Amino acid sequence: MAFESTAPQAYESKLYGELSGVYDLIFARFFYPRIAAVIRDLRIPPGAKVLELGVGTGLALRAYPRHCQVTGVDLAPDMLERAQERIARKGWRHIQLHEMDAMNLDLEDSSFDYVMAFHVVSVVPKVDRFMREAQRVCKANGKIVVINHFRSDKRVLATIDRKIEPITRRVGWHTLGREEVFHGLPLELCRVYKTSRRSLFTVVVARNAKSDESAVQVPPQLVTAAAGGSMGQIAAGPNRHEAPAH
Ligand SMILES: C[S@@+](CC[C@H](N)C(=O)[O-])C[C@H]1O[C@@H](n2cnc3c(N)ncnc32)[C@H](O)[C@@H]1O
Repeated sequence: MAFESTAPQAYESKLYGELSGVYDLIFARFFYPRIAAVIRDLRIPPGAKVLELGVGTGLALRAYPRHCQVTGVDLAPDMLERAQERIARKGWRHIQLHEMDAMNLDLEDSSFDYVMAFHVVSVVPKVDRFMREAQRVCKANGKIVVINHFRSDKRVLATIDRKIEPITRRVGWHTLGREEVFHGLPLELCRVYKTSRRSLFTVVVARNAKSDESAVQVPPQLVTAAAGGSMGQIAAGPNRHEAPAH
């Protein structure tokens, strides 16, 4: 399947489109083992619905158990094309891909048990929008799993991060503090860990602490006024557009 570019392309995704040819050579060797260990640890149960944001060339896809349903989204058609080739080669029927901006997902509220973001939060231009969308489409008590490099608490490492920031920014990578990614959302950090002591990457497993009720609490008078008496439109996506439009 060929992916035509329909979404507006962030410069970051253009970069990844250009890199798609060499991407697997670099990432498969160094990043896949960590991703596989994290997914294994989650013990994803049969029938679970999993969303991977910024799925790229589909590096993580072989780590998901076949008994779950995986949706992968990315903004870069070249990356998705590689992921699609991988899926076709392996005959994976439990995985589907969509070209989509992770900061503006065309997906229903509360529709996934797991939302994964591997090496993506530093790449998107508005991490707050990205995380709001992740939280919105994740079910109450579902898990949001982020693997990323965060600014270190250690002074020396934090200084190195700051010094190399102008270079990493040029290739679309912003070094963020962990709090910048997770603040302001009803997320309970269940596990924050590294897969090895010296790893530069941190794994964060967060529980979506939104209440089911909050997603459907629309005062009856507003429903009537906004939907002309029809409940349908509002009930389908009450916090769908919570993300600030900036
Ligand atoms: C460093 S790669 C990580 C890919 C994959 N998660 C992995 O670990 O191999 C970042 C990916 O995020 C994608 N990306 C960047 N901005 C995006 C956006 N706004 N929406 C969806 N994907 C985006 C890029 O196209 C790229 O494939």
